[in-house]
Amino acid sequence: MCGIIAITTSSNTKVSKLITTGLKRLEYRGYDSVGIATINQGKIETLKDAGTIDRVNQKLNFENLEGSIGIGHTRWATHGPPNQINAHPHADCTKKIMVVHNGIIENYLEIKSDLERKGHIFTSQTDSEVIVHLVEEELKLANPPKSVIQAFKNTITKLEGAYAITLIHTDEPETIFLARKDSPLVIGVQEDTKFAASDIPAFLEHTKKVIILKNGEIGVITPKTVYIEKNGFRVQPKPFIVSWTAESAQKSGYPHFMLKEIHEQPIALKNTINIDSEELSKASKKILESTRIVFLACGTSYHAGLSGFHQIQRILPKKPIYPIIASEYETYSHLIDEETLIIAISQSGETLDVMKALSAARKNKAQVISLANVTDSSIPRLSHISLYTKAGPEIGVAATKTHTAQVALLARLAIQLEFEAGELSKDDYSVQVDNLVQQTPQIVRTVINQNELKAKKLASIIQNQNHSYFLARGLNMPVALEGALKLKEISYIHAEAFPAGESKHGPIAIVETNFPIVMIAPDDWTTKKMLGNAEEMKARGGYIISVTEKDHRITERSDYSFFIPKAFSPIINPISYVVPLQMLAYYTAVRRGYDPDKPKNLAKTVTVE
Ligand code: M6R
Repeated sequence: MCGIIAITTSSNTKVSKLITTGLKRLEYRGYDSVGIATINQGKIETLKDAGTIDRVNQKLNFENLEGSIGIGHTRWATHGPPNQINAHPHADCTKKIMVVHNGIIENYLEIKSDLERKGHIFTSQTDSEVIVHLVEEELKLANPPKSVIQAFKNTITKLEGAYAITLIHTDEPETIFLARKDSPLVIGVQEDTKFAASDIPAFLEHTKKVIILKNGEIGVITPKTVYIEKNGFRVQPKPFIVSWTAESAQKSGYPHFMLKEIHEQPIALKNTINIDSEELSKASKKILESTRIVFLACGTSYHAGLSGFHQIQRILPKKPIYPIIASEYETYSHLIDEETLIIAISQSGETLDVMKALSAARKNKAQVISLANVTDSSIPRLSHISLYTKAGPEIGVAATKTHTAQVALLARLAIQLEFEAGELSKDDYSVQVDNLVQQTPQIVRTVINQNELKAKKLASIIQNQNHSYFLARGLNMPVALEGALKLKEISYIHAEAFPAGESKHGPIAIVETNFPIVMIAPDDWTTKKMLGNAEEMKARGGYIISVTEKDHRITERSDYSFFIPKAFSPIINPISYVVPLQMLAYYTAVRRGYDPDKPKNLAKTVTVE
């Protein structure tokens, strides 16, 4: 978690302003404290405090910092509470070296006590502070004196855990030292300016030329140069041009990124489904060759994986398929061998739980297909085949457009698989693909247009509730799970999703008058049973909210209904049915006075275990 940015320029620009804007673009990664350090006339200048970027900037005015080199950090606290002292950047004892860090240094306690024995004075409770003191110590001891890069490299070898690090030293006032392991770090390249940041939107308005630093790489940037090495050997970086626009990382008139991203779904879906069939064909062959399949993901991406599980299981009913939450990988590791195909799903491509599970699976020789939104991120790099959703940058912490894009990509893959498995004729295959491409964006646009006001109104009805249930069956369960996750993570209303048939085995006990129960009820094999479940809930006073088709019988039992157009195939349902629930969560959070883009205790990319 946490967002870091570092800039060095020879263009006579004050970097503090650019760093502040960059940090705003990274705020989705953490927002409990913030700080910037620059080098000005050979001296470090620092401003930092607890609070959001706007609040701290208002109080301290980051633009007071002079200098054409600097580092900045927006924090999601792990070690030590969010306060001024624990906010990054952190200095060494001489105040000549400053560091910002994203990740967790697992062996920091040993390093810290060793350094304290050697006389170092620590000021914060963070794990990150050991990094600057280690560099200081390396420089102090050496005879003849070491270069800063040598001291930095020695320091990195002593760190265990996950890190993206940028560090500056007053002795080298144009240079930024970089290192990454398991936490993302990307470099932005401009003629006279170089950027390093946790994510591309941090510098997207200045450059689209990007280098992704890979695990284990150490780098040095100056205004005109980029140097990268791994295991002591120079690496030739491969810059690429990102297709994202600067506007795509801005709110463009919407009050929140989340609302903008909900509205961007038709285009995100269109771009995602228009995928070259060659990659899908290779992926389908891997699916067919495998003995078993494991979907691996976390949070919202896991819900997309559940959807993929239902879709693929329908085509290959005899194939063992297991959806697994990545942090639970150990429990299932006995299933993973060279005959296993992992389908890893991650918006960011950097979720540590998924990366750890994938690394373990790769050691067991499993094959890996990944679905990610961020090009060339770590999870695609751990994969044999990388498929990408083309949703553009997603800034709101709550995933919306990337989720529906993931489900749509899995639906497109399912059609390909059905064809490759010989279950679909060439003609039927073309019709299915055309329908998916044509109908999905259109249906989602209609769902937004016809249900946004309804979502807003319903938000005002349920805003004072403390609990809610989300019920569904079969292929519709991922929608219930995702709807509940959205509501709880941004409105803080307790929301629980479970298969509707389970109600009578316990959960119905707490249903009382006006208890909100969201029922996902397309017209399919689940209808009859869902009707029964709605009756049971209604009899106990439950407030029934159905997401359904017009004229569906469940509306008679419902207190409130969202209507979804009928699609050519149920494979679109997990995409279209989730959209009203995203809007309901959004408007409920807003009604309750919360910022949906920055839910408390959460961060967009989870790079801790
Ligand atoms: O980047 P990923 O898709 O791997 O992230 C997985 C989860 O951390 C993420 O989906 C999380 O659950 C979001 N808060 C959902 O809105």
